[in-house]
Amino acid sequence: MNQDQLKKLVADAALKHVVEDRVVGVGSGSTVNLFIDALASIKGRIEGAVAASGASAERLRKHGIRVFDLNSVDELPVYVDGADEVTEHLHMIKGGGGALTREKIVAAVARKFVCICDASKLVPVLGRFPLPLEVIPMARSHVGREMLKRGAQPVLRENFKTDNGNLIIDCHGLTLLDPPRLEAELNNIAGLVANGIFARRPADVLLLAADSGVRTVTL
Ligand code: 5RP
Repeated sequence: MNQDQLKKLVADAALKHVVEDRVVGVGSGSTVNLFIDALASIKGRIEGAVAASGASAERLRKHGIRVFDLNSVDELPVYVDGADEVTEHLHMIKGGGGALTREKIVAAVARKFVCICDASKLVPVLGRFPLPLEVIPMARSHVGREMLKRGAQPVLRENFKTDNGNLIIDCHGLTLLDPPRLEAELNNIAGLVANGIFARRPADVLLLAADSGVRTVTL
């Protein structure tokens, strides 16, 4: 199977985690797009969805799925999202699509985070994928200098603005030996809105698609 077929396989497999008659949290990216398409097949059995990006919200609406504002939802039983890298500890790097801040917010609210990936995303140590940071524009140089001090090569994502009107800096050359510690440390840099390490709130379930089928990983 090629990567797109694996993404479709895992997107379909995530449907069994969706709770009937409730609102489901939906992340963003190409794997999640396929999950949204699959969700359309059971749209009569869910109340609606909360979306972590404008693009996901638009795709949900096109399928006739009601999109709720996160603030109007008391509880979110499940959040389904992809990742750029994931480990067996269910730590992730996310933000390849630039939606990391909203993804982190929705993940924080959700009771269960189901990460959906093809097997190419599984790594022993996070960091080969450049770590995305969402940054307030006036803090761009400050955050860049802070990341240089930490041994990273920060690169501003060209011609890109997040849904929140901010910039993305992609940090190359990091090896994340202690993801929860680095996540917390980066959270203290002024002007850095969110970093793409998802380790303090890891996934609860990883669905990993390979030629042999979908493997479920939990801690
Ligand atoms: C977007 C994300 C995505 O989940 C991540 O980039 C994976 O995307 P894809 O499914 O297209 O590989 O974090 O901010």
